Amino acid sequence: MKILIAGIDGYLGWPLALHLSGRGHEVGGIDMYLRRKWVEEMSSWSALPISSMPERLVALKERHDREISFWEGDLTNYDFVEGIIREFEPDAVVHLGECPSAPYSMIDVHHAKWVQSNNVDSTFNLIFAMRDHRPEAHLLKLGTMGEYGTPGMPIPEGFFEIEYRGHKDRLPFPRQAGSWYHWSKVHGSNNIMFACKIYGLRATDIMQGVVFGTQTDEMAGDPRLLSRLDFDQAFGTAINRFCCQAVIGHPLTPYGRGHQKRGFLPLRDSMQCFTLALENPPEHGEYRVFNQFHEVYDIVSLANTVREVSSDLGLDVEVRHLDNPRMELEEHFYEPDHQHLLDLGYQPAHDVATEVRMMVGDLIAHRDRIEAKKDALVPDVNWSGRRSRVGFVGEQTVSTRD
Ligand SMILES: NC(=O)c1ccc[n+]([C@@H]2O[C@H](COP(=O)([O-])OP(=O)(O)OC[C@H]3O[C@@H](n4cnc5c(N)ncnc54)[C@H](O)[C@@H]3O)[C@@H](O)[C@H]2O)c1
Repeated sequence: MKILIAGIDGYLGWPLALHLSGRGHEVGGIDMYLRRKWVEEMSSWSALPISSMPERLVALKERHDREISFWEGDLTNYDFVEGIIREFEPDAVVHLGECPSAPYSMIDVHHAKWVQSNNVDSTFNLIFAMRDHRPEAHLLKLGTMGEYGTPGMPIPEGFFEIEYRGHKDRLPFPRQAGSWYHWSKVHGSNNIMFACKIYGLRATDIMQGVVFGTQTDEMAGDPRLLSRLDFDQAFGTAINRFCCQAVIGHPLTPYGRGHQKRGFLPLRDSMQCFTLALENPPEHGEYRVFNQFHEVYDIVSLANTVREVSSDLGLDVEVRHLDNPRMELEEHFYEPDHQHLLDLGYQPAHDVATEVRMMVGDLIAHRDRIEAKKDALVPDVNWSGRRSRVGFVGEQTVSTRD
């Protein structure tokens, strides 16, 4: 299959390119290195040193004798996107090329507008270019479990049967996103659902949980093939951040009471799930939704797992709660379905503790990089709109910017 990955330079995009090309698919990718710039803007860098895209492509050739086509450019530029769809003629397009950060979107009006327009425009461009040049191709779009929010009832995969005033229907499950970023994902989902209906496109909308991990098999011990691993307040996700904190002896910092529950999955499982969705495409005109995660955990229990594994590895770290910079429920019901991928054959392969052990091991070698940017670990982007550095629960906070 010819598969085009929009956002190939990102945390998920690069491992996915390695994985799919390893399965014999012909892979092409688009990126303009925005993730590298966003993390720099947050005064940070990847804990694992990463190669440039040209270096990655050379390493792939030398290590595995495989090639990937790459186009550098902006997904919000329609002529650019249309040209690539015409030239590459993909059978499937994986759209990972969006800004993935809730805190980044909450910084101010400029960031909120930029994240929403970048994410919605890039999706529009892919929809229209596919409609006009590859209408039979499969669009696999990354949404997020965060689109649903935390309703007080079980969360189905996209749709549910409902009876209201004596009438029954199958309707999209309500979305209650918790940041401007998450709302951009909801808008993307709605637009794709509509495009499938009116243009007969076929799409899988992945409501992905939080991904963690440093390695996939295809990286095969070659440091030039590693993907990034961020720990800053905006682009570091929970377990990745905890592991980075652990290796420098920084307290592990759940926000608020820490009983927020989320679905999580290891990077390696995420590759398996994308592959299953791509190799089992939906019908023409079908819009399907997969909730993609392995297990639901609460944040404090994850912090405790990282603490225990780190302690086995000789690292002494404590768990200390930070005042919550976000506006979110800290105690809530959470019961999302995740059956569709299991039905396609998803076999969760890696438990959290095993993965964390590997991550901490990988990160210890780069302790100096985390230490050098440790200020980026403490959040100052606040959902209330005031920029102030968050303190540990019970301590006073200091305003850094109004
Ligand atoms: N990583 C997670 O835990 C997670 C969880 C849920 C959903 N997701 C979603 O998965 C997708 C990929 O996530 P990720 O963690 O790999 O993010 P990422 O930021 O590492 O990757 C996104 C890539 O897209 C590129 N990009 C963004 N806008 C672009 C544009 N206009 N033109 C060209 N390139 C552009 C960026 O440079 C980056 O390399 C995102 O849509 C994200 O919302 C990720």
